[in-house]
Amino acid sequence: MPDTIHFPENFLWGAATSSYQIEGARQADGKGESIWDRFSHTPGKIQDGRNGDIACDHYNRMPQDVALMQSLGLQAYRFSISWPRILPNGRGAVNAAGLDFYDRLVDSLLTANITPFITLYHWDLPQALQDEGGWPSRSTAEAFVTYADVVSQRLGDRVKNWITHNEPWVAAFVGYWQGRHAPGIQDFAQAIRASHHLLLSHGWAVPVIRQNSPEAQVGITLNLNAVYPASSSAADQQAMRHEDGYLNRWFLDPLYGRRYPADMVHSFSQQGHLPDDMAFVQPGDLQAIAAPMDFLGINNYFRTIARDKTAVNNQPPTLEPYDNYTEMGWEVAPEGIRDLLLRVEYDYRPGKIYITENGASYSDGPNGDGRIADTRRQTYLRTYLAKIHEAMQIGVPLAGYFVWSLFDNFEWGFGYKQRFGIIWVDYETQERILKDSALWYRSVIAQNGFTPKE
Ligand code: FCB
Repeated sequence: MPDTIHFPENFLWGAATSSYQIEGARQADGKGESIWDRFSHTPGKIQDGRNGDIACDHYNRMPQDVALMQSLGLQAYRFSISWPRILPNGRGAVNAAGLDFYDRLVDSLLTANITPFITLYHWDLPQALQDEGGWPSRSTAEAFVTYADVVSQRLGDRVKNWITHNEPWVAAFVGYWQGRHAPGIQDFAQAIRASHHLLLSHGWAVPVIRQNSPEAQVGITLNLNAVYPASSSAADQQAMRHEDGYLNRWFLDPLYGRRYPADMVHSFSQQGHLPDDMAFVQPGDLQAIAAPMDFLGINNYFRTIARDKTAVNNQPPTLEPYDNYTEMGWEVAPEGIRDLLLRVEYDYRPGKIYITENGASYSDGPNGDGRIADTRRQTYLRTYLAKIHEAMQIGVPLAGYFVWSLFDNFEWGFGYKQRFGIIWVDYETQERILKDSALWYRSVIAQNGFTPKE
């Protein structure tokens, strides 16, 4: 093992957040209702019964929060825009005050020498659009393009890195099939339609953003996992192929011009999940989705071990999870991120990749003297970064890394119980405290690397 791990000169070190998870200010300055406002106010949907009305109150504390980022030496900050702040009804009248907030944020970041990365959609769809059908409806994809146009017209002069969507797999399948996320629907046919319209809206928005923001780099962020078979049996290999198809290829293939994977279309329709035989895919859609991108954003936290639990006489598993999980119940397996990066590079050649999220939920809080010794998070980040570096040594064109998350925040269906931040947030007082992992990350940024064993 080398003494120190060094990253390339221009490697970008960042942190990520999203609008609904940190902003609060649910109705401030003309903001409209989002599906997450509605969902989190529906009894029984959020584990701790709480919501994002206040969250980290970032909307009101933005200047201090940017100062904190600067104190860490952050070089880039990935945040998302709340669509209903900009277009309270999803389309139509623009709410100037909403745009002004992000305008001020962008200027503060640039003054602090922090490169803004904007995510246009991190799940807070205007409720008005859900009332008309939401992502299963093609008109939502059309509305997204207008929204992308409005935002990139206003900020495109200063913001040069644009991510259309965050994790369309989650938006489609957790929102419209598992129902654990807003809008809480459980209908596979709707989820498939949603996945298509999310991708379509991405493809349509890419040229619009480019037009409004000269020299912009435009991409999308997918949640991807390395998928391994639990044994070498045919059944487990098939299970791996299916998991990989559902999570990874369903999005990567159309984005990189290969249409939807035929094996998955077949399997979904055999399960009776495609009642209209994908008739919602119209001529020209696949070309639009495959609009060339400048980078691929990857969010990764854990790996998937695929096992066919129904196979009779299946071989015993040869690969089992480590006995090491974060508080989300996500397995800690750093080699997964290396294998994933290599696979994506070899199979799709995206040209440039950012890790747009990676991190861990551990609830360690302040001890007697106010220090937060979150050693497990530090170990997680260190071991994942070491594997990321390995992938880069082999040739993966990774341009930067964004830790999830800058702050503890509203973790969707889990409420505030799960803490992913490198900065502690006391939700009673809104005090922020740098955890040890933040101090460590600051030194990683300063040295552009770290010692593998500390
Ligand atoms: C990702 C989301 C992000 C956060 C992390 C833990 O799926 O993009 O908002 O919830 O997981």
